Amino acid sequence: MAQIGTDLNRFILEEERKYPQATGSLSLALTAIETATKIIGSHIRQAGLVDILGKTGKLNVQGEEVQKLDELANEIMIEHLLDSGEFFALSSEEMEEPIFSEKGKNGKYIISFDPLDGSSNIDVNVSIGTIFSIHKKVTGTIEDFFQEGYKQVAAGYIVYGSSTMLVYSTGKGVNGFTLDPSVGMFLLSHPNMKMPEKGKIYSINEANAKKWIDDGLVDFVESLKEKGYTSRYIGSMVADVHRTLIKGGIFAYPADKKNTNGKLRLLYEASPMAFLITQAGGLATTGKEEILNIKAKSIHQRVPVFLGSKTEIQELLSYIA
Ligand code: AHG
Ligand code: MN
Ligand code: MN
Repeated sequence: MAQIGTDLNRFILEEERKYPQATGSLSLALTAIETATKIIGSHIRQAGLVDILGKTGKLNVQGEEVQKLDELANEIMIEHLLDSGEFFALSSEEMEEPIFSEKGKNGKYIISFDPLDGSSNIDVNVSIGTIFSIHKKVTGTIEDFFQEGYKQVAAGYIVYGSSTMLVYSTGKGVNGFTLDPSVGMFLLSHPNMKMPEKGKIYSINEANAKKWIDDGLVDFVESLKEKGYTSRYIGSMVADVHRTLIKGGIFAYPADKKNTNGKLRLLYEASPMAFLITQAGGLATTGKEEILNIKAKSIHQRVPVFLGSKTEIQELLSYIA
């Protein structure tokens, strides 16, 4: 196992060396994500200062308009991902249609991402994140985005929290890296992350309980309360899933009368998180099928999401399936 403190770039290269046939493409692809998200992170850290510095003229010397952070994050991701030349196509929460890039025409991968997740939390200084999901290019058409989640080559997220962490998997376990801001490097802090078999926390927007569609969900949540579970709900999927990955328990965004397929998007929220949770020993379901087995039908498709420790997900299924 790699040593605590190993720099992410070295870790990626060492992983690559284990596969003599590897060409280095995936390493370059992951490095592009790392660079983009470091830049996004630095903008996020300035978020509260933008108006103040703008007034003193310090930040807007080029006379640039202050952009919404989710649009800015999207642009930064696109710029770095395209520049790497490793991605044949990109799809993002912030774009109606995918981008097929000239520079990536020989790229082996396609990527879906949520450039800024939990953006309603920006103004109140609460953790937000970036999520990504990488598949192989197969047909070279939009169909490549509709592959099942279990076919992901890599998936991960960055949580911009009290510290910034990058957590990712290439299908051989999950590793977490913490940004050391003094040197600007992600250092291995959470090697081979494994979820507890059972937790003590449930995470769901209970304000929607009266609108939930799944019969049995209310009873399931009641049963957790009776067993002494506590509730945590940040409202940033990245942060809620990060906690669930470390502490166990369950995170859910079920279908309700307003969001009949749930709120979260399959390609760049549900599927990458399901990949990580499963790699860490947990389970991920819509209540009807495993999230990783779904073949998407459209880029922005939504699915109900239940992610968590084995015990809670199996218990949930006994109530709703
Ligand atoms: P985004 O900011 O990318 O649009 O995602 C918001 C999502 C997700 O992060 C979170 O789990 C969910 O919205 C919270 O929704 P509710 O406020 O409806 O609970
Ligand atoms: Mn999101
Ligand atoms: Mn978003």
